[in-house]
Amino acid sequence: RIAGPCSLVIFGVTGDLAKRKLMPAVYDLANRGLLPPSFALVGFARRDWDDQDFGQVVHDAVREHSRTPFREDVWERLAEGFRFVQGAFDDDAAFDQLRTTLAELDAERGTDGNHAFYLSIPPGAFPTVCEQLQRSGLAVPGGDGDGLPAERWRRVVIEKPFGHDLASAKELNAVVNGVFPEDSVFRIDHYLGKETVQNILALRFANQLFDPLWSSHYVDHVQITMAEDIGLGGRAGYYDGIGAARDVIQNHLLQLLALVAMEEPVSFEPRELQAEKIKVLSATRNILPLDLNTARGQYGPGWQGSHPVPGLVDEEGFSADSTTETFAAIAVEVDSRRWAGVPFYLRTGKRLGRRVTEIALVFKKAPHLPFDKTMTEELGENALVIRVQPDEGITLRFGSKVPGSSMQVRDVNMDFSYGQAFTESSPEAYERLILDVLLGEPSLFPVNAEVELSWRILDPVLQAWAAEGRPDTYESGMWGPRSAEDMMTRVGRVWRRP
Ligand code: BG6
Repeated sequence: RIAGPCSLVIFGVTGDLAKRKLMPAVYDLANRGLLPPSFALVGFARRDWDDQDFGQVVHDAVREHSRTPFREDVWERLAEGFRFVQGAFDDDAAFDQLRTTLAELDAERGTDGNHAFYLSIPPGAFPTVCEQLQRSGLAVPGGDGDGLPAERWRRVVIEKPFGHDLASAKELNAVVNGVFPEDSVFRIDHYLGKETVQNILALRFANQLFDPLWSSHYVDHVQITMAEDIGLGGRAGYYDGIGAARDVIQNHLLQLLALVAMEEPVSFEPRELQAEKIKVLSATRNILPLDLNTARGQYGPGWQGSHPVPGLVDEEGFSADSTTETFAAIAVEVDSRRWAGVPFYLRTGKRLGRRVTEIALVFKKAPHLPFDKTMTEELGENALVIRVQPDEGITLRFGSKVPGSSMQVRDVNMDFSYGQAFTESSPEAYERLILDVLLGEPSLFPVNAEVELSWRILDPVLQAWAAEGRPDTYESGMWGPRSAEDMMTRVGRVWRRP
């Protein structure tokens, strides 16, 4: 579907996310013919730019990061709708100017009074921007006295972190909901925009094959891993004091858990999907005691590929006594009939062995093996691995006879790979999500209740860690601290090495 006439206003347009993801996604949507001719992109920031400077920044960002080829005609049509409004977030005059600019675009470009406000800014600035949007009458259609009928829409898009803990998330939600009704609030969790993540629902609910296995009868445990090889150079401003659990587990990994563990929704209507995710998150509990069932670490110096890399505390902007964790692992259970007794292990980290995100359902061992022990020495556990990225696909791992005169069994992989199975290319997550905002399609956006339930799970872990002091150190390029290994060996399991 193609979006209808509208303008997209980006706050924080000088930031990294805007340049790396948002601007290229807008261009790629235009290039795929998914934006209407009556579309405008408005940047709002303090920088002393005019419309041309802004256009140049978008141009450079698109040339560097867009996924589709650069086409002059598409670019020119899109760029005619670029405007820049200069000002600080607490500047009344700047928001009045924004209102004037949007009204001009409505008249000149036909954007028709429909506006999406993308808050790509630190959460501390959300309240000010929301209040300014309310004060200037931009938050609700007709609020600025433009006389347009109420079918026009206003939507706000917010980026994580949605708070620092449950209490601050509630405060933040109260501020946002005080200005925008919940159905106009789009919270971005870009993992939900990934093709492989959406495919979890197709895999589970479009097939008969997997469902009978999808429970505590056959699944021993589930491992959800999001590993990155990059470090945090240049990101101290955002990351220091936040850490891996808030940055990734609170949102991306608990959303993946919800999709893997939820029951079949009544339909794919957004409300039905949300209801099932909310049920799972409500039933999710930390496995206790926390000190034995969680692990956290901070990367020290080491090697990435063939390059030496510094430890976190030697990265620019981090102090020598920073307690920020760059690796976090937790163990939870879903208290339901389907999942009783099955641990879900969630881990994430920076400067690990390689960049990979995967979800592995590890199956119980066959109850009986009619083989001589020596024949099955190379047989591990059966596993179904959803390869979220970078090598997108699904692997089924099982034992097979090694060709030859004796009966030797060894693990083999059966692979589905997107690159081989489909000629269609996957849109970038932000492309899909921005289009959904413009279409008013909320399925891929977590609602308030999901955000708060996720904090409810994480809060006790964060409190326990805060009381402990410094995290353990791990060598860059390795798979996390010793305590992460111990957390698994204690219960007779091991982390997968993707
Ligand atoms: C973001 C985190 O949400 O996801 C970053 O804030 C992380 O720390 C990024 O690097 C990873 O995204 P992706 O899509 O590259 O896995």
